[in-house]
Amino acid sequence: MAEAIEWLADGTPYSPRFGDRYRSELGGLAQSREVFLHGCGLPAAWANEPQWRILETGFGLGLNFLVTWQAWKADPRRPRLLHFVATEAHPASAADVLRGAAAHPELLPLAEQLQARLWGLLPGFHRLVFEGGQVLLTLCIGDTQAVLREQPFEADTVYLDGFSPSKNPGIWDIHTLKAVARCCRRGTRIATWTVARSVVDGLAQCGFVVEKTAGLPPKRDNLQGQFNPRWAPRKAPQATAAPPPRPSTCVVIGAGLAGAATAASLGRRGWQVVVLDACEAPAGGASGLPAGVLVPHVSPDDSLLSRLSRCGVRATLQQAAALLQEGTDWRATGVLERRMDGSPGLPADGSEAGRDWNEIASPQQLAQALLANGEASACWHHQAGWIKPARLVQALLTQPGIHWQGGAQATRLKRDAATGVWRVLDAKGHSLAQADMVVVAAGYASRLLAGHGSGGLPLQAIRGQVSWGLRSGDGPAGPPDGADEKAFPAFPVNGHGIFIPCVPTGAGPMWLAGASFERDQDDTQRRQQDQQANFERLQTLLPTTAQHLAAAFQSGGPRAWAGVRCASPDRLPLVGPVDAALQPGLWVNTAMGSRGLTFAVLCGELLAARLHGEPLPLENRMAQALAPKRFSPLTLIGTRLNTGK
Ligand SMILES: Cc1cc2nc3c(=O)[nH]c(=O)nc-3n(C[C@H](O)[C@H](O)[C@H](O)COP(=O)(O)OP(=O)(O)OC[C@H]3O[C@@H](n4cnc5c(N)ncnc54)[C@H](O)[C@@H]3O)c2cc1C
Ligand SMILES: C[S@@+](CC[C@H](N)C(=O)[O-])C[C@H]1O[C@@H](n2cnc3c(N)ncnc32)[C@H](O)[C@@H]1O
Repeated sequence: MAEAIEWLADGTPYSPRFGDRYRSELGGLAQSREVFLHGCGLPAAWANEPQWRILETGFGLGLNFLVTWQAWKADPRRPRLLHFVATEAHPASAADVLRGAAAHPELLPLAEQLQARLWGLLPGFHRLVFEGGQVLLTLCIGDTQAVLREQPFEADTVYLDGFSPSKNPGIWDIHTLKAVARCCRRGTRIATWTVARSVVDGLAQCGFVVEKTAGLPPKRDNLQGQFNPRWAPRKAPQATAAPPPRPSTCVVIGAGLAGAATAASLGRRGWQVVVLDACEAPAGGASGLPAGVLVPHVSPDDSLLSRLSRCGVRATLQQAAALLQEGTDWRATGVLERRMDGSPGLPADGSEAGRDWNEIASPQQLAQALLANGEASACWHHQAGWIKPARLVQALLTQPGIHWQGGAQATRLKRDAATGVWRVLDAKGHSLAQADMVVVAAGYASRLLAGHGSGGLPLQAIRGQVSWGLRSGDGPAGPPDGADEKAFPAFPVNGHGIFIPCVPTGAGPMWLAGASFERDQDDTQRRQQDQQANFERLQTLLPTTAQHLAAAFQSGGPRAWAGVRCASPDRLPLVGPVDAALQPGLWVNTAMGSRGLTFAVLCGELLAARLHGEPLPLENRMAQALAPKRFSPLTLIGTRLNTGK
């Protein structure tokens, strides 16, 4: 259940849990503007800065966020990127958030956009994207002290807004204030409306210099201050040691989903990016897949992969909605996942936020997939659908700051030690491009290009082939027009391979079945035996559909597309610096495995966030789980020593 909120007669939202109002009865808007925005010297403080990062404890109904976003929109000197990170232990419903802004018509258009993105707020981080990626709201769902441990960034501004200390002492206790202080740099401005002795003392103990200022009536005082400890502040363990770079120049090698997403994330931050690819057109590798499914992973224990995949699905859905044509390039149809072992596969919590993501498939959904109820076990993914990856690649490459260059096969990378400039060379030793930074996103070819100590990155090639055809039949054995309506599911189905029933193309609607999975093979020849294997998979996944397509498969009717996935030993992507000490400025973003449509956009944002020391779009432990250094020879030796292996 979303947090219960009572609406008092004067229209103020009230928390029965804490016995306190969410905002001042005399005007939430005035409180947001005066206490928090102006109390922290905004908007003047952020003028002409490349980025501004705000941390709020207690997101509540998002009023402070909306007011800040509105001020950002109205400011001609606004920063290029506004990060708003908010903690929230008890998320309110989207409807209550909208209702909370209803009295303020100037905020309503923003509140409606916010409301539309407030779904599925399970514990963990949720990155909500606005203004084409220039306003990033990271909701950290959980207790403030705990979630800030997973968010090692330096805030420029802090809003403390967690109910009255007498009603909710936990969010003001010294441990939570210390966690806030760890997210501050010297000079970070802080504001709140409470002047409780315990808060003033606690803030002073944590290194904040605070003063009382005139309050909004009926309150006499507010509190403002800045982080200026008498000691050298201790950094969060994972915070970047070096000052983050100013946007400059970057070469990205590889114009698949990973490279294009990296380029777009850097371009949005003001980088000039050259994207090189060996092929003449973008998406010439695995991202040339005609269509694939975007679907979260589920597991009873909600594993790291499951949580990561949810962050990724949310990122891709938002990016697709912003850049692509729904219905033509992608569609959030929902996906039915067959559970071949009969287990539901879902975590047992069954919360409302969890059900926004997935639930046990209903008999009606099973029927729409032509699966008889009782014979099949399945879960239904609400936040899922199909997408044409090449369309997303093309759209990402048109983002500002990106220059695409095809027919450019990188063979070697060379860094000038004196200037720090990287040069990307072709087979003849000619320079293809040069820049301050290189990101290798070349799929399986990243293995040697990015190096790793002397042995290269530990990547595996996994060949795959899909079979596809036109719904109205594209060969002599194809089904006649309209005859396939009752034989195809109403939406994509996965769980034993995938089947996508209907993707529009210039020649008519297409179906697609796949995919084969052959380790350590990197050729893209189309093979008849893989067509047969796809058909056999389909017979298990969707027997009725397979029966309908049997004649087409037997006559060799369906077409084929083959590509090479690139996977790491633990099947998680590799995102981050290759070896910050030995090869500064060389980063990698690859190993998307079988889930590039889910991971690539998120990984592009993660790379940019790590580079700039920005708030992370996912918990730090997940970011660390994706760091290439986990496979560096030294880390591996250390792991072996620690585990005695
Ligand atoms: C059959 C099949 C089905 C799949 N189905 C799904 C699905 O349903 N859902 C899903 O999420 N994922 C799916 N995937 C996985 C998904 O396609 C990949 O994870 C994703 O496309 C990888 O993107 P990438 O940018 O890392 O790699 P790629 O798209 O392979 O891009 C790498 C690029 O680097 C370029 N390059 C390589 N070497 C060099 C060089 N030396 N110099 C310059 N450029 C170079 C290549 O030309 C290529 O364009 C599928 C993959 C296959 C093969
Ligand atoms: C006063 S309201 C915040 C109002 C909000 N800033 C706004 O603009 O609408 C306080 C919020 O803090 C949340 N909260 C309380 N204790 C918390 C904790 N320990 N960690 C995170 N959030 C907490 C409450 O659920 C509530 O939503």
